[in-house]
Amino acid sequence: MPVYVVVGSQWGDEGKGKVVDALADKADYVVRFQGGNNAGHTVIVSGEKFVLHLLPSGVLHKNAQCIIGNGVVVDAGVLLHELHELEKRGFSTEHVFVSDRAHLIMPYHIALDKAKESARGEEKIGTTGRGIGPCYVDKYDRVGFRVGDLLDFATFKENLKKQLDWKNKILTQLYQVEAVYYEQIVEEFAIYAEKLKNRIIDATPILHKALEENKTLFFEGAQALMLDIDHGTYPFVTSSSPTVGAIASGAGVPAQKVNRAIGVSKAYTTRVGEGPFVTELKDALGEHIRQKGGEFGSTTGRPRRTGWLDLLVAKYAVQINGLTDFAMTKLDVLTGLDEVKVCVAYQIDGKTYDYIPSSAHLLAKAEPIYKTFAGWQEDISKITRFEDLPKTCQDYVLFVEEQVGVSISMISVGAERTQNIYRKSLWA
Ligand code: GDP
Ligand code: IMO
Ligand code: MG
Repeated sequence: MPVYVVVGSQWGDEGKGKVVDALADKADYVVRFQGGNNAGHTVIVSGEKFVLHLLPSGVLHKNAQCIIGNGVVVDAGVLLHELHELEKRGFSTEHVFVSDRAHLIMPYHIALDKAKESARGEEKIGTTGRGIGPCYVDKYDRVGFRVGDLLDFATFKENLKKQLDWKNKILTQLYQVEAVYYEQIVEEFAIYAEKLKNRIIDATPILHKALEENKTLFFEGAQALMLDIDHGTYPFVTSSSPTVGAIASGAGVPAQKVNRAIGVSKAYTTRVGEGPFVTELKDALGEHIRQKGGEFGSTTGRPRRTGWLDLLVAKYAVQINGLTDFAMTKLDVLTGLDEVKVCVAYQIDGKTYDYIPSSAHLLAKAEPIYKTFAGWQEDISKITRFEDLPKTCQDYVLFVEEQVGVSISMISVGAERTQNIYRKSLWA
């Protein structure tokens, strides 16, 4: 079973980093294929916390080659900082590589992201401000810079000059914010080019050779289905496709090579930023879940909005991704509640929906219809066998599994690498 994809199946922050790290001791390659440092993937090993933004979450396993694929947008400064931080903590980073086809987030992308958000005012998306959207815009407009361009620095400098004239007009004249300076960018990027040059690779032939040799590959999604540019709650989405199909465009590996597609879902739901969230709890219970689950963004520190699990979202994740398995995380956070709810349908303008309507406007009006389960009070964070979970907790998981139609093969009951219940082998 050599090709695994791990994707977020809600609005991000499901615990993808934890799941990838927990499984990656068997990986030969761990590959990011979309997004950028808008992601914040947390891994906790023996109490030590690592928050990864661009580095694949297999990086703590030195036998796994870690590749930042062509579909990722790369802030070279952030990448070098992350590498440096890990090295300071005694980890080797010699196994980290970046595709020459990946696009570079330039300082003007970050300036534009912030300027656009502030110009939107009340209608802001609530982006992470990392320049993700503007970088993808330039990629599709065919005026972007790729990581490989750093290897021919003279040409990079020439093209930068032309591009910067345009970008500074937009920044200063349209948005009336400060320009970004050519000399400063050249100076910074010359350092990046020098420090990154030995990590820049053509990843495509390497991944295809790995496939031929039957190596074990993990593709690590960032963000999640409901933030997908096509399938998410547009326009309150990110600018990439965080779904399984994107490994073809974002890493050059056809989706039909995938053996296991694992959707990561919390036992409840969170969302950061603006946009519809049908099962949101805006009350004391929502606050309780936020505090107990530590629901504050790993990238921006913003409080995450919280709510009940939404089965329409989970089923949609199965459909769009062709999920074979779920990893359900943070089940421990629901411990101690009298009852636990799960959304089974929406009511919109008097009509019942069993699927997610495409319009964010319609979705914003949706009322959740819930099925209610009895809660459980016992500490479950040390449990490693499903049978040892309290009966009411088992009932909740089994109901979700039956509804989504694929196996909840892994259950995470704590942030540590080892706090997992495996119900079905992921290696068979
Ligand atoms: P990602 O972006 O999908 O990788 O998720 P984040 O790292 O942004 O957010 C998940 C948070 O939940 C992190 O702080 C994890 O350490 C934590 N976490 C992951 N799994 C569990 C779990 O099963 N229980 C608890 N209590 N925390 C978890
Ligand atoms: P991980 O990989 C949660 C959200 C932002 C905003 C929207 C667009 O850690 O799950 P962007 O900066 O991408 O243009 O912002 O998407 N967002 C995330 N929310 N987890 C993430 O990543 C996210 N990456 C982007 O909050 O609503
Ligand atoms: Mg995150």
